[in-house]
Amino acid sequence: MEIRVLEGSIAEVESDALIVNLFEGVTSPGGATGAVDRALDGMIAELIRSKEATGKLMETALLHTYGKIAPKRVLVIGLGKSGEFDLVAVRKVAGAAVRFLRKKGVRTVTSIVHGAGIGGLTPRDAARAVVEGTILGLYQGDIYKTSEEDSNEVEAFTIVERDRAKIPDVEEGAREGRILADAANDARTLGNEPPNRMTPSILSQRAREAAERFGLGFEELDEKRMAELGMNALLSVAQGSAQPPRLIILRYTAGDGKPTIAFVGKGLTFDSGGISIKPQEDMHLMKYDMVGGAAVIHALRALAELKPDINVIGLIPASENMPGGSAYKPGDVITCFSGKTVEIITTDAEGRMMLADAITYAVREGASYVVDIATLTGSCAIALGNDFTGIMGNNQELIEKLTEAARSAGEQVWNLPLPPAYKDQLKSSIADLKNVGSRYGGALTGGLFLQEFVGDIPWVHMDIAGTAYTSKEDGSGGAGYLAPGATGVGVRTLAMLAMRLSGRSA
Ligand code: BES
Ligand code: ZN
Ligand code: ZN
Repeated sequence: MEIRVLEGSIAEVESDALIVNLFEGVTSPGGATGAVDRALDGMIAELIRSKEATGKLMETALLHTYGKIAPKRVLVIGLGKSGEFDLVAVRKVAGAAVRFLRKKGVRTVTSIVHGAGIGGLTPRDAARAVVEGTILGLYQGDIYKTSEEDSNEVEAFTIVERDRAKIPDVEEGAREGRILADAANDARTLGNEPPNRMTPSILSQRAREAAERFGLGFEELDEKRMAELGMNALLSVAQGSAQPPRLIILRYTAGDGKPTIAFVGKGLTFDSGGISIKPQEDMHLMKYDMVGGAAVIHALRALAELKPDINVIGLIPASENMPGGSAYKPGDVITCFSGKTVEIITTDAEGRMMLADAITYAVREGASYVVDIATLTGSCAIALGNDFTGIMGNNQELIEKLTEAARSAGEQVWNLPLPPAYKDQLKSSIADLKNVGSRYGGALTGGLFLQEFVGDIPWVHMDIAGTAYTSKEDGSGGAGYLAPGATGVGVRTLAMLAMRLSGRSA
């Protein structure tokens, strides 16, 4: 799809459909919507009077313009309550609008920038959010359907802005939005791949291709190299599978002497639970257990285009967790790459094992910051539902930076504690640590386990078990505008965090 920014008057630019907006409770439309209403002799005001347009978030009302203005149709999309309006809402609105129009067979779309002006957002942030919402909203995950059920496609999306002074900011925002949303969609495609087509070596191959295309450094450690280094935690997880594991390493280099941020993403391409096997219900969803890794791959790829002034290393431990004859077992004691020993209580807590070794790799690389992202615990999804990623960390400043990055990326995060007292739950009578605590507070003990491997380096853990995928069309988790499947969560937050840490606030 082509994305353009045009200076001009929205009523004069031709398109199959023009998107304008309305806040909830507004009785006479203002701004650009008001101008279109006047050009249409009060047709939007009439929709409001008849309560067909109430301004409720993502509500749609479609008009035909019969040649009164250049666009053939006008879609009035609801912005919701003005007091609740933010960048999350901008993305939802933009995404919901184009999804609605695509179903109607619309090919060319013009739009105003929702919220630039009225909503108190900067034109750049708002334009970025509009483009992101549009590209994310139009993504479809039905990659293996052999007959097209819905072949409609939006071919061109044009933001029309009448204020010349705002154009450079709108253009910059649109450019960033395109980079970030394309990256997130590519991460979604990796996540949506079925587990027979997304093994650790295939994930590594895809990372290599992204690295070549965008100019990132690429390296992969195979089993032999991992054994030489002593990465036994990662190797143990892979033991029960016929598929060999990989440690995928990507590098974005800004220059010598600059700080390095390490992103560590769980790349578990299928989590059966291993010997501690999961129930069959919903086990197929465990193909999404690698989306943390996918987020890291495509956050680095976006950064290769956004070019922050900070070095970034991406580490993706990739494996399957299977109950094969040589699988690791409850009761096993494993010596991790860091030297710490872990008693395995359940083989289903495999993510923290592979992350432990990858985090140790980041520490030994001299990372100044570590952020890991993982579908780590069902507990986190139970605690926060499908719209909030749980974050935990050892450094308040980094937690705040990540929270700001998430806010501007329109991804919702919630800070959970790492209570020192809960560390007792990880005490083992035979080894340094057990790999799980009690059932209660499972997200927190997952975080506490990882903390044992980061030392004093500023670190944040993102538990995306609840936000990684959405099952319902337009359902929760999809935030109302995403197709079923992987959500691409984390790509934009990680990229924005690197921008912020480098002193550039995209
Ligand atoms: N991959 C799962 C976590 C998960 C659950 C992700 C649901 C997405 C949706 C992880 O490896 C796992 O099995 N975690 C266990 C941890 C427990 C054994 C401490 C869990 O959540 O039950
Ligand atoms: Zn898992
Ligand atoms: Zn598991």
